[in-house]
Amino acid sequence: MKTLYVVGNALALICANALAGDSTALLDKEHEKAAFIKDLMKRMTLEEKIGQLNLVSVGPDYTKEAIMADIRAGKVGAMFNTVTRPDIRQMQVQAVEHSRLHIPLLYAYDVIHGHRTVFPISLGMASSWDLDAIALSGRISAQEAAADGLNLTFSPTVDITREPRWGRVSETFGEDVYLTSRIAEVLVKAYQGKDLSAPDTIMASLKHFALYGAVEGGRDYNTVDMSPQRMFQDYLPPYQAAVNAGAGSVMVSLNAINGIPSTANKWLLKDVLREQWQFKGMTISDHGAVNELIKHGVAQNGHDAALLAIRAGVDLNMHDDLYGKELPVLLKEKAITPADIDEACRHVLAAKYDLGLFKDPYAYLGKADDPSFDTNAESRLHRDASRSVARKSMVLLKNERDLLPLKKQGTLAVIGPMAKSQRDIMGNWSAAGVTAQAVSVYQGLERATAGKAKLLYAKGTNVTNDSSVLAYLNSYDPSVDIDHRSAEDMIEEAVEVAKHADVIVAVVGESQGMAHEASSRADITIPTSQRDLLKALKATGKPLVLVLMNGRPLALEWENQQADAMLETWFSGTEGGNAVADVLFGDYNPSGKLPMTFPRSVGQVPMYYNHLNTGRPFNPLDPGKYTSRYFDEANGPLFPFGYGLSYTTFTVSDIALSSPSLSKNGQLTARVTVKNTGKRAGETVVQLYLRDVVASVSRPVKELKHFKKVMLQPGKQQEIEFTITDDDLKFYHSDLQYHSEPGDFNVYIGLDSANVKEQQFTLL
Ligand code: BGC
Repeated sequence: MKTLYVVGNALALICANALAGDSTALLDKEHEKAAFIKDLMKRMTLEEKIGQLNLVSVGPDYTKEAIMADIRAGKVGAMFNTVTRPDIRQMQVQAVEHSRLHIPLLYAYDVIHGHRTVFPISLGMASSWDLDAIALSGRISAQEAAADGLNLTFSPTVDITREPRWGRVSETFGEDVYLTSRIAEVLVKAYQGKDLSAPDTIMASLKHFALYGAVEGGRDYNTVDMSPQRMFQDYLPPYQAAVNAGAGSVMVSLNAINGIPSTANKWLLKDVLREQWQFKGMTISDHGAVNELIKHGVAQNGHDAALLAIRAGVDLNMHDDLYGKELPVLLKEKAITPADIDEACRHVLAAKYDLGLFKDPYAYLGKADDPSFDTNAESRLHRDASRSVARKSMVLLKNERDLLPLKKQGTLAVIGPMAKSQRDIMGNWSAAGVTAQAVSVYQGLERATAGKAKLLYAKGTNVTNDSSVLAYLNSYDPSVDIDHRSAEDMIEEAVEVAKHADVIVAVVGESQGMAHEASSRADITIPTSQRDLLKALKATGKPLVLVLMNGRPLALEWENQQADAMLETWFSGTEGGNAVADVLFGDYNPSGKLPMTFPRSVGQVPMYYNHLNTGRPFNPLDPGKYTSRYFDEANGPLFPFGYGLSYTTFTVSDIALSSPSLSKNGQLTARVTVKNTGKRAGETVVQLYLRDVVASVSRPVKELKHFKKVMLQPGKQQEIEFTITDDDLKFYHSDLQYHSEPGDFNVYIGLDSANVKEQQFTLL
């Protein structure tokens, strides 16, 4: 190995630290970094600088050999989708040993809900409302990814969305700005740890900046048109929270915002991100987004597209080679200056510096002569953690006559297209997970009941009978197994099986490919073939438990009428089947709460809890004609934001406020006593919402401001205290100033967003 750049003097740094405190040490470190990069850039040619801006992956049009040649020529800055140590080492050697300046590459990948060990999809993780559990998933993901040689994850996805039709809702943490912001912080810290250069941490690249979750009609890649007030109030805070938590990188979204694609959006990337938020890291375009500026209709050709992107502030360009081709031309034409390229290059080099790659470009790769290991070895998996997070992510939606938990006795009929699917339970961004290592629901139930109860099985139906949808789902890889028997035969078999059982556990919903990138749905119900199956099962008169597997809020009004119990399990990862069994049999008492409203029908969308009131709000007790409602649908959600049942019951006392008023610099405490009134130990999430009753701008009927997850033994109670300060009352005004207004506020505390206790105070 040739070396490279010895960066600084560790001893001097430690001394500086001890003598002058952390901030001076940090400043020294920053100076050292700047000096190092400056020196390096002095020696770089223009082509080499542009090469640093190129993020590539191996594909049919760009072979490994061609990439290796380009790396040696200094034309590549980073790679994605190369995910094993030997492959990464092979590439790194080209850069470090055979390129002129030996600048290491950095390696990125979509580590979204786990790496080798797969955790529940993000929407599921958010349902846990358990920041420690989410941090654990992030820490393990980082360790596993870093151990494979990766340096950066395209995660967390902190897009707020109110759109269940959007397939990528599954990748988000739901509709709430406060919950998503807290998760954003936790995940950035979990990925990056205290020291980004440590070989078990990876850089976070938050995405998709910005507002991707607000695509019109929930159709993927569609446009976004939004008032600045709404942006700053409801959509931008999670990105800012991730930036403030130290995210090293930001991925730019594919959508346009008010007519300007994010990739060409100088206001977004420079004014907001760099100037207002003081982001110092690296920006990355999304896959092919620079080239897509042509189709967006803001660039005539690749030449213009590259110009717009570099001017807007896109540093690292993913997938297309437009920077490599066009930036030299643009420079010659003086459309851009060398300083434009230097700035982008500096950000990329700084990321590599922070990752410690200049000190040791092989730090994440072990020694060259280390014995090789099986990337997918069972011993690398963190099954216990995956199971523990998975069961926390499940939400009990219905439990008539306490049908659940089930007893491990008698005969259970496990029926449905998802029951034995190991692929679906892994979810959609489980790219490095191995399907065969996943525990299906059937396997989980089988293990839990071995020697105690009898399990029967029938598939009952394909996920859908719509051949065009099946073709769509299997268009890239054959991920959906198709049973070629007739629908009637399959249902008949299932009914026969059900007749011999005491209880039916129907595992139904969506296949993972239905809730993914480019998987928007105009209909958010369970496909007809599965409804037909449920109808037939219901007709047997046996108790019916629905285990729902899906990646978005579904419209479940009909299912809610048929089923005796419903458990939302999302796509729960490697240990999903065991986690489902834990919950169904009561070895774990469900504690998940919905991070997104479940509407009754798709026509109600967008439906979210923190809406404004209108001048003619609908009142269920006095509906009236001229009120804001749908006359052909029951109004309000089927399941509200924050909702989720338990096998025990809880009560919440009235709210006691420490004072009827709050001064701008003061604080107020709101207390409730939460009691477990049932017979089992259980956890619940105590949620505090606020409402600004009268303000210069109409304010939401409720906004989540704090929450606490508590565990209570049966019969026990606990006082829960929340502190409210002026910060909780601030909002964006029409001039985008962020401050509170004196006046009356309502405080609501409850175990979901709809059933709450209420109190008032005044901000002086
Ligand atoms: C997605 C990103 C992802 C990237 C790289 C894009 O299509 O929008 O979320 O990180 O691909 O895989």
